[in-house]
Amino acid sequence: MRALIAETRLSARQLVYPMFVRDGQGVREPIASMPGQERVSADELVRDVDRASELGIGGVLLFGLPAEKDGVGSGAWDEDGVVQRAIRAVRQADPGLVVAADVCLCGYTDHGHCGVLRDGDVDNDETLPLLARAAASLAAAGADIVAPSSMMDGQVAAIRLQLDEAGHRDVAIMAYAAKYASAFYGPFRDAADSAPQSGDRRGYQMDPSHVRQGLAEIATDLSEGADVVMVKPALAYLDVIRAARERFDAPLAAYSVSGEYAMLAAAAERGWLDHEAVVLESLNAIVRAGADIVITYSALDAARWLS
Ligand code: PBG
Repeated sequence: MRALIAETRLSARQLVYPMFVRDGQGVREPIASMPGQERVSADELVRDVDRASELGIGGVLLFGLPAEKDGVGSGAWDEDGVVQRAIRAVRQADPGLVVAADVCLCGYTDHGHCGVLRDGDVDNDETLPLLARAAASLAAAGADIVAPSSMMDGQVAAIRLQLDEAGHRDVAIMAYAAKYASAFYGPFRDAADSAPQSGDRRGYQMDPSHVRQGLAEIATDLSEGADVVMVKPALAYLDVIRAARERFDAPLAAYSVSGEYAMLAAAAERGWLDHEAVVLESLNAIVRAGADIVITYSALDAARWLS
């Protein structure tokens, strides 16, 4: 009876699984701060994406760990870059799910900021063409979706223009629109080796006290051509998800970030929480708040539990 009348329904199809790809072959490197998650080489990634597809997951979101970094993050638009190669390999295997790629510089710059630095500060406008170039190269490799996460103003417009000019009109943009300067990204920066070497990200990511600004960021990204908009993190920002759902009709994604995953996984490891129950309850809350798509490191587990 409960299943029949449920007001909120979870399905594997609405889940997106974030994955970390590095160079090499046959590499599976556990991520200490995210128990159960690994950095994998492209060949292993193809296997994991296949498994995700079999479980009925809606899509995967790829992050790269380049072998080398520099001041401008040129690995992000390297045709032979670690994510570009991985996407080509996944495409060849044709897994039948959506392949999304993160677009940012923080994993590719030696200083760890999401844009290029000028006099020690991130230069928004100088960063835009680099993000656009990265997006176009990921699209050329075969990404269905590019997901700009650097929070540079104008990034969606710059990327849309370049995608269209390069003939990638069908490649969609999922914009990290309301992305907060959150301490819940801690484990991810470990995983992606992308922590800023100096300062923090408060100059470009949003202040956690703001809701209205989050809605304004979403409106801007939609006007620039975003196809899907995102609120990030998820659990501590359910009110923002709800407000965005009520205001906008566009597909809405919520990113349940690394710190959210780590909290539950660590407590479960100690036997303090029932992992399955708390993960499904959390995902239910995020969907109840209004998210259509949930990006979660628990996607594979959840799909298994839901089946
Ligand atoms: C890159 C990026 C980050 C995350 C997604 N894309 C890190 C950051 O902004 O510092 C965080 C994801 C997570 O914590 O799971 N800009």
